[in-house]
Amino acid sequence: MNRDFRKSTVYQIYPKSFCDTNGDGIGDIKGVISKLDYIKELGADYIWLTPFFVSPQNDNGYDVADYYSVEPKYGTMEDVETLIAEASKREMKLMFDMVFNHVSTKHEWFQKAMSGDAYYKDFFFFRKGKEEGVPPTNWESKFGGSAWEYVEKFDEYYLHLFDVTQADLNWDNENVRKEIQKVVKFWMEKGVKGFRFDVVNLISKGSFEDDETGDGRKYYTDGPKIHQYLKELHDTTFGTDAEIVTVGEMSSTSIENCCQYAGSSTGELNMVFSFHHLKVDFMGNEKWVLVPFDFKKLKEIIFEWQTEMEKHDAWNAVFWCNHDQPRVVSRFGNEKEYWKESAKMLATIIHCLRGTPYVYQGEEIGMTNTDFTDISQFRDVESLNHYEILQDKGLSASDALRIVQIHSRDNGRTPMQWNTEDYAGFTSGEKHAPWIGVNSNYKKINAEEQLGNSDSVFYYYKKLIELRKKLDVIAYGSVEPLDISDPSVFAYRRKYKNEELIVAANFYGKNYEWKNVPNLSGFEKILGNYEGGELRKLQPYEAAVWYKCQ
Ligand code: GLC
Ligand code: CA
Repeated sequence: MNRDFRKSTVYQIYPKSFCDTNGDGIGDIKGVISKLDYIKELGADYIWLTPFFVSPQNDNGYDVADYYSVEPKYGTMEDVETLIAEASKREMKLMFDMVFNHVSTKHEWFQKAMSGDAYYKDFFFFRKGKEEGVPPTNWESKFGGSAWEYVEKFDEYYLHLFDVTQADLNWDNENVRKEIQKVVKFWMEKGVKGFRFDVVNLISKGSFEDDETGDGRKYYTDGPKIHQYLKELHDTTFGTDAEIVTVGEMSSTSIENCCQYAGSSTGELNMVFSFHHLKVDFMGNEKWVLVPFDFKKLKEIIFEWQTEMEKHDAWNAVFWCNHDQPRVVSRFGNEKEYWKESAKMLATIIHCLRGTPYVYQGEEIGMTNTDFTDISQFRDVESLNHYEILQDKGLSASDALRIVQIHSRDNGRTPMQWNTEDYAGFTSGEKHAPWIGVNSNYKKINAEEQLGNSDSVFYYYKKLIELRKKLDVIAYGSVEPLDISDPSVFAYRRKYKNEELIVAANFYGKNYEWKNVPNLSGFEKILGNYEGGELRKLQPYEAAVWYKCQ
């Protein structure tokens, strides 16, 4: 098997919404095992599984209460071992999701801290308030409200950058770092060959000061000892096994830091997720607003990351979707008239870039945003908090709902649409209906239909995944943006040795005459979402890949 991560594609599974085998309405590990052949058919090399560890599930598993055990709702340790073995038989490797910035307040460490045990209190950030009733700093939680929670019996606050049940770990304490290393080694011994580190650039806190101009993130993002801590984790754990692939989720990061996190010889991680390109429909950092996406900014950001990371010999993870993002076909494409065309167009852009592509469950069949019409249908803590916050700010309930509908993370969390059976084949629903509602478009959009249709979005993704393996220029080539100021076209050139590739797409639903078409002499079209075609006259959401080898 070719384990070169630059030629690989990662398939992300959110187990809770993937496949339920016991009818309780919650996806499980056995469900993942039952779909391995499907993932193999797509051509993925790695399967990233979001957290399935013991957890009260306040943040769907990103609130871990025990890193060494499997949440009973998802299955057993034996199931996980079977999954690793069965994936390996099919030449696929597992990538586990390690949440080390914080633990659930139900975790033993936090429980001991709360009982007054000084050793464990130092695993967290307990601080005195500035004065009575005033938290130590004015930092805001990413899920809304203060980032500090008061504990009466200590007359102190603890830090939680996320939910109040997710207490931040104190990485400056060596004992914490040793515990984390133990966890990583435990899963390495089980045969896990990849790790995704959750919001890992937030683990090194700087000084605890009020942020006069923001929400506090400048004091803990890419903090003072972050590179030191990542190197240490690398050297003491996964760095000893060259087969292991690592990706860090980087919140509000900078290119400069990412060149270091994911440099080919810096000894930290293999690659990074950054999110600046997915904030083009925000207002600055404010997500809970309705603004149309800024296409020019989208291109500028993607190309800036592409070229800077290349210049510094560092590696990106490239993606549109994950369990925290709305569905891309609804977001930047057209889920109605040009559903299939726009889904394929968006896939083309991502999969031909320099970086390792990530496909999020359902993306490969063009799944769309939810069609929820009532707040009671939403499940995500972030959405529910902000629904209230928006109304506190004076918005009407219906305006607040509209914003939640567009931006909610639940858009990416509705059950995987397998077929036309009840609940889209996600669950029998015998014991319980799905934990979150199925999108009513499942009769049209589902995996079974697409597996029987060679023109489907699924097979288009499959071709893209194959192309990366076949053509070195996709995996290793340089990137040159083309006609970056054009208001409709997203295009770039890749070059590697004697190979050249031109990727071009019309990002909108109107016919478009592209004036600055590059010279295509000697090129042949190797993939596209329309028959024939030339780049001068682009059809709605048309995308094409042209290739030349001398
Ligand atoms: C990451 C996860 C997200 C989670 C957060 C806190 O951003 O992807 O789902 O809520 O970290 O762990
Ligand atoms: Ca289940």
